[in-house]
Amino acid sequence: MKVRQVSHAIGAEITEIDLSCPLSDAQWKDIYAAWLKHIVLIFPGQMLTPEQLIAFAGRFGPLDDHREDPVSRLDGYPEIFLIGNHMVNGKLSKTRDTGRLWHSDHSYTTRPTLISMLYCRSLPPTGGTTAFSNMYMAYDTLSDTMKGMLDKLEGVHELLHLGSRSTTLYRTRSFKDPASIAERYPPVAHPLVRVHPETGKKALYVSEGPVSRIAGLTDDEGRGLLQFLFKHAATLEFTYRHTYSEDDLVFWDNRACQHIALADYVQNSKTPRVMQRLTVLGEESGRFFDADAARVSVPAAGAQFR
Ligand SMILES: [Fe+2]
Repeated sequence: MKVRQVSHAIGAEITEIDLSCPLSDAQWKDIYAAWLKHIVLIFPGQMLTPEQLIAFAGRFGPLDDHREDPVSRLDGYPEIFLIGNHMVNGKLSKTRDTGRLWHSDHSYTTRPTLISMLYCRSLPPTGGTTAFSNMYMAYDTLSDTMKGMLDKLEGVHELLHLGSRSTTLYRTRSFKDPASIAERYPPVAHPLVRVHPETGKKALYVSEGPVSRIAGLTDDEGRGLLQFLFKHAATLEFTYRHTYSEDDLVFWDNRACQHIALADYVQNSKTPRVMQRLTVLGEESGRFFDADAARVSVPAAGAQFR
């Protein structure tokens, strides 16, 4: 197989390999090593049945059955979830605006995704891109003083926070029943810096979409630091933006990068953007965060002047 880096920071295109055929141990080892090194792998022109797709993704670990959203699953294949602006039962799919802010998948749970895999089935005439950013680089380029501070802190990730955001380009989904979301997905604290269990390298783990605050800091302190980190993590030199072709298979290591699905296409084209998505479950990580118990104590207003 041939490996070609697609940007300075992240991503490699892999050609001269057919994933529909059984892989030799040597091929599997090469793919795995390329994935750890380049974080995002792109396999253009793959012709895969759902069974072959599931078999390939399943080599990396157990797959999610997407039981949280059964309507969006591919019929007969719970491991395959359809993301796009296609029609589902006569209505635009509710997955159409998935991932419109920088994030690492399912960081708002205590079992964040290891690998997310997208198999491109259909595209609008232009756009529908995904950008990726290298979180090793984001960490490595910080000052030692900042690294020392971040090493000790945790970010609080909340699905409800993610669902309440809006930008100038779009509004994220709003939840019909926020109380039930809050109960099913309570806030989770993860270290701002995670040590990758396989490469041993440190990666920044904080993203604009779900992170609402920094544990132990006041809202004012945390907000300023988070604004810096969100901007820093998306530094263009750390990124690669992938323009898909049909039959591209793309997957990435959520422990080492963030990604964003850009709203850079018309929603009403004849051909929608449709991806078959597979999710390899990650390891347990983080802890449930009790906001009340963790309330930061600050002096009462004016107390410091007495
Ligand atoms: Fe995502």
